Amino acid sequence: MAEASFYFPEHFLWGTATAGHQVEGNDTNSDWWQFEQEPGHIHEGHRAGNAADWWNGRRWQEDFDRAAADGQNTHRLSVEWSRIEPTPGRWDDDALDHYREMVRGLKARGLEPMVTLHHFANPQWLMERAMWETGEAVPLFERYTRKVVAALGPDVRLWCTVNEPNSYMFLGWVSGLFPAEKKNIGLALQVAGNLLRAHVAAYRAIHSLQPQALVGLPIHFRPIEPASGWALDRWVAQTQFDLGVTLLPHAIRTGRLRRLVGSTAVPEAKGTLDYFGLNYYTADIARFDLTLPGELFGRRTFPAGAELDDIKANASYPPGLGWSLRWVHDHFPKLPIYITENGFGDAADRMRPAYLISHLRELLRYVNFNWDIRGYYHWTLVDNFEWERGWTQRFGLYALDTQTQARTPRGSAGLYAEICRSRSISSDLVARYAPGLSAVLFPDK
Ligand code: FCB
Repeated sequence: MAEASFYFPEHFLWGTATAGHQVEGNDTNSDWWQFEQEPGHIHEGHRAGNAADWWNGRRWQEDFDRAAADGQNTHRLSVEWSRIEPTPGRWDDDALDHYREMVRGLKARGLEPMVTLHHFANPQWLMERAMWETGEAVPLFERYTRKVVAALGPDVRLWCTVNEPNSYMFLGWVSGLFPAEKKNIGLALQVAGNLLRAHVAAYRAIHSLQPQALVGLPIHFRPIEPASGWALDRWVAQTQFDLGVTLLPHAIRTGRLRRLVGSTAVPEAKGTLDYFGLNYYTADIARFDLTLPGELFGRRTFPAGAELDDIKANASYPPGLGWSLRWVHDHFPKLPIYITENGFGDAADRMRPAYLISHLRELLRYVNFNWDIRGYYHWTLVDNFEWERGWTQRFGLYALDTQTQARTPRGSAGLYAEICRSRSISSDLVARYAPGLSAVLFPDK
């Protein structure tokens, strides 16, 4: 093995990403809290409960200490609309104060905050009235955004409007695994249109209050390869990609929102991105299957030979990250890129070290092309409540015991800390954490 180091640029941002509902606990006003109480929704009947106890126990303090001690210099978190506006038009200033303390807590520790305004969860009142379907949510989201920006703006420069609008519309309105539990592609596309309008309204509201802000819309980016050269396999892969992955970025680039057939004009959406937020976990292979109309006739599998995570929900496939970066760069050549999420559910931390190193190595290839890639947020800092998968998926650099709230570093916590502190990947580091990669990343010849 050759001895060498790969370096990231000096001002690169290194962080982890979290979402309010997944770490805070006890948000009884959230649609998710209600959803978890009803049997059959969450794997093994799990509930978020105290989650990582960031709200009542304010354990974000100790977790931000960990992130800072581990050399991170940024953190992405989300604020919960259901806490800030528990009933329509009534604002909870204590909740806003708490979030202000959190973003200031980050800054005091040398971490730049990135704040997401909507990360899957909603106030119950909004979902009871199906406001993402009717569109009533759009002006209300703008009003909520203005409240949050007025409160946190002085401390926050990096904003995400709606997290993964594409997976959110899919999980809530196509597979029905999330609230609103619907399986209706027409309705899903209507929701996507409203999420886009909400993003546009929030983009403009943030800029009117804070002209220097950088506003993005993290997309769950998933390359989808056809299983063969057969026309129907190719059609299915392309349709799933166009509607399930790039629907909103395409609208923002072209001013046209695709529909099942044709498209609608959305000129107001054009240009409403200051950076591209890329969430990358895995890639798919799609095969045409007439028996799956609900999934747009596509049967998905993972790339051959790729290792799968604990619950076989994601494959470790670093070339998919490169493919995604090339797509973004080709379609938005002028935008800076942040990897707003990337991670692997691996309780035993058997595969995560290799996943982390190989994905960062892939990222570095494109950083070295002098593309404007500014930061990387690992998902996630401490094990959290993984939505309908409950506690069965463990993504944390730190393991969480939900009974005692004790945190235990996994091997990857030390690995990521070494990478963040040295902003590099060395042959020595790879030999210690993922020896199987040494010959691949540092060949003798
Ligand atoms: C992403 C979500 C995030 C988390 C990870 C594992 O799609 O944005 O909340 O659940 O997946």
